[in-house]
Amino acid sequence: MGLLGVALLFSTCIFPALSVDRSNFKTCDQSSFCKRQRKLEPGYSQYRALLGSAKLTADKLEIQLIDDKNQLSLLLEVFGLDGNMTRIKINEINPLKPRYEVPDVLVGTPPPANLQVTGQDENTLELSLGGAEHKLLVTGSPFRLDILSGRDLVLSVNSRGLLHFEHLRERKDTDSEKTVPPESDDSVPGEEDEAAAKEEESKKVEEDEEQPGMWDETFKTHTDTKPNGPSSLGLDFSLPGFEHVYGIPEHADNLRLRTTESTDPYRLYNLDVFQYELYNTMALYGSVPLLLAHNVHRTLGIFWLNAAETWVDISSNTAGKTLLGKMFQYIHGGGETPQTDVHWMSESGIIDVFLLLGPKPNDIFKQYASLTGTQSLPPYFSLGYHQCRWNYNDEEDVRNVDAGFDEHDLPYDVIWLDIEHADGKRYFTWDPHKFPTPKDMLGKLKDKRRKMVAIVDPHIKIDSDYRIHNEIRSRGFYVKNKNGGDYEGWCWPGSAAYPDFTDPEMRAWWSSMFSYDQYEGSVDNLFVWNDMNEPSVFNGPEVTMHKDAVHWGGWEHRDVHNLYGLYVQKATAEGLIQRSGGKERPFVLTRAFFAGSQRYGAVWTGDNAAEWDHLKISVPMCLSLGLVAISFCGADVGGFFKNPEPELLVRWYQAGAYQPFFRAHAHLDTPRREPWLHGDVNLKLIHEVLQQRYALLPFWYTEFYRALREGEPVMRPLWVEFPTDVSTFAMDDQYMIGSALLVHPVTEANARGVQIYLPGVGEVFYDVRSYQRYNAPQSFYLPVTSSSIPVYHRGGTIIPRKNRPRRSSDCMHDDPFTLYVALNLQGEARGELFIDDGHSFNYEQNEFVYREFNYSRGQLESSSLDPRGKFDTPSWLERVIIIGASRPTSVTLSLPGGSVTPLEFEYDSRTSVITVRKPGVNIASDFTISLR
Ligand SMILES: *[C@@H]1O[C@H](CO)[C@@H](O)[C@H](O)[C@H]1NC(C)=O
Ligand SMILES: *[C@@H]1O[C@H](CO)[C@@H](O)[C@H](O)[C@H]1NC(C)=O
Repeated sequence: MGLLGVALLFSTCIFPALSVDRSNFKTCDQSSFCKRQRKLEPGYSQYRALLGSAKLTADKLEIQLIDDKNQLSLLLEVFGLDGNMTRIKINEINPLKPRYEVPDVLVGTPPPANLQVTGQDENTLELSLGGAEHKLLVTGSPFRLDILSGRDLVLSVNSRGLLHFEHLRERKDTDSEKTVPPESDDSVPGEEDEAAAKEEESKKVEEDEEQPGMWDETFKTHTDTKPNGPSSLGLDFSLPGFEHVYGIPEHADNLRLRTTESTDPYRLYNLDVFQYELYNTMALYGSVPLLLAHNVHRTLGIFWLNAAETWVDISSNTAGKTLLGKMFQYIHGGGETPQTDVHWMSESGIIDVFLLLGPKPNDIFKQYASLTGTQSLPPYFSLGYHQCRWNYNDEEDVRNVDAGFDEHDLPYDVIWLDIEHADGKRYFTWDPHKFPTPKDMLGKLKDKRRKMVAIVDPHIKIDSDYRIHNEIRSRGFYVKNKNGGDYEGWCWPGSAAYPDFTDPEMRAWWSSMFSYDQYEGSVDNLFVWNDMNEPSVFNGPEVTMHKDAVHWGGWEHRDVHNLYGLYVQKATAEGLIQRSGGKERPFVLTRAFFAGSQRYGAVWTGDNAAEWDHLKISVPMCLSLGLVAISFCGADVGGFFKNPEPELLVRWYQAGAYQPFFRAHAHLDTPRREPWLHGDVNLKLIHEVLQQRYALLPFWYTEFYRALREGEPVMRPLWVEFPTDVSTFAMDDQYMIGSALLVHPVTEANARGVQIYLPGVGEVFYDVRSYQRYNAPQSFYLPVTSSSIPVYHRGGTIIPRKNRPRRSSDCMHDDPFTLYVALNLQGEARGELFIDDGHSFNYEQNEFVYREFNYSRGQLESSSLDPRGKFDTPSWLERVIIIGASRPTSVTLSLPGGSVTPLEFEYDSRTSVITVRKPGVNIASDFTISLR
């Protein structure tokens, strides 16, 4: 939850009209570096590459760049990387002090590929980027880079000349502002001797005019000091042939990114935005600087590895032109290739950018996964339903809510406790009056095979009677203010300090606090929620930390800001792993995130509102996160602020059940809204939703295993599955789960129907309830009722389900399976199933079952997809539903030993569905079911 929740507490229970207070947050114009960078006009670059200075080692090209305005030089490094990737770094040759390079995000050193010079003239250098496929052209003057695939130009760098790199400097005649002399740093590449560097220093000072905001900058009441002056950097990328770009979450905007010529650029700066507004480019809680571009021929990615405040401008030469306009241009020969231009601007650090060349969507996911890792495999329970509220007041409240689920036959897995559970917002403690016996409470939940999540936020109450605070202070683990004292701010507990999560020692200590003997009252079915980790500082600039606060290693908060939240979740997740002796998988939900956060748990879209538009935008927001590898995403079901009317609440359950992280949450001031409080009709509708969610858990889990292995998003845009169907490129009111289910949630009040589009030439889809068959591509109006959740099973895929209703997912672990086989036009289908114990890391020791089901020519064959996997499961195959089939005369089961047994079946000629009863085989065994 966010700032001013407090204010609401004291107001009446009626919420004011929701809207963000924009004046709390900077526009590009109010962020001096953004203003300076954005002022540059496209044109000739002020930089030249000195091709004569080129040095080629096995996997790296180094070239000096000269800024013609001030004669300062930069070092350009180009790396060949294996798998159609390249990395470009640009830094000052002898910076006044080292500039920040983002640690801990890359999972390893990307494997190098050989670079070779394949051609050269006086102004151009041509290299092969590993393999014959991709070439790099380096143009000397004006400096630019072009990447070709065969003869096609794929992407250009600095073709609009917007490279602009502000060097660190000492301020002219400032007796008062003496800067500490820089330490020399041998690791910085460069060959100039000191004298030359000195000479350059003086030039720097002479040639750069002073501009406002370079040395300090005031926003509202806060002044940001900059001891080394301006430090920003910007670079442009041109993508010929691309009109659709995606990614760079988190924004409350459509899936397809807009052009920003007449708005602010998209901003990446983790912020606690109170009552965020929809459909704009303002920053939100998390940042992932990966942009994707897609057209019918290829998909590209640009990963800008920088953790400072960043803005991204997007422009297009076709934006605003009508289709007729484009045609007119084309016919009259004035047609240019459509092109999207992307301009990245960051406040500090270096330019470190990975170009992911695809060419297919799945190649991009693999390439990005090879750099930042994949979504960690969620514990099985965490894919169930989560019941949260600010707050469940005490142990009795928890007991009653828990009992309510049993009384109404509703499955759920986790009940959540928000900040009020702790003793005066001192995290790692329990309110002694409201939660006097947490172990008891957790034990009762455990008896029902359910879990609890409690919040642990990173702001620590300054209170000399609070052990956590005393330990952090005495170990010197707090972030420091610019004067060297502990940085203090205002947050939920009142005056608070902020542990420095960028310090590995601090993180190790934090992790150790989750051990059962340190975190009193905790047991193994208690998991954790990290909120407010942008970090939120109620009285800080833009509700966050001052940029001149100082972190471990002497880095300014400015350099590390967008990484803070990732580190909080990382340290917490590692704590949960360690408390189990390394055996158990953690579950940690975070609000702030960065590239790589997928490795540590789940993300939700923060403090949304009970409004139809907020329901609707949860889809593109999670799709955008999925594209950047964060698959475990969800939005607060029902909306956090305000009260949903029952229709909105039910529709939100229906939509949320088909999003990866499925949690209902509500603000402290809202009336209670547990599922049974809205009348029998609505209870029945929610009951139906929960049954559907739980039946599909084996499918969700298998999709998460694929995300872990292949980096594929679980919830994915249609274009990922149908990359040549242009009409899907901007669609975000429907999406795919894996490659098998197409979902179109109802997100309008009083909906009578929705317009469905089923993509793919020669594909078929089946309504999951009626089995009605649709040939694709096809667009049609589907009438809906209050119970409708339009979901389509794509022909050619097989989905495993568990259909027996239970109290929680854990109770379903050994239940039998039903396979839903949806045939395509060729009468074929394929699917997978992953099973393990659902909670430990033993799958890494091959304790799992990974099966493939293949239906072809009337035979359903089950085989192992990964023969290393060994795991005993009692689950058996209860039923097979074959959709889109003709009537067989007999159905038999064959086992590897040669035994053949007839199976009972029914055929529904109205729906063309065969139901095969009780094959009875163990789900982990090889078998064939044959239809004759
Ligand atoms: C690299 O690109 C080529 C074609 O451009 C493609 O055939 C190949 O599969 C790609 N390799 C990887 C690892 O993505
Ligand atoms: C499915 O089985 C058929 C027939 O045995 C085979 O030709 C096909 O390659 C299999 N498909 C997959 C994806 O394994």
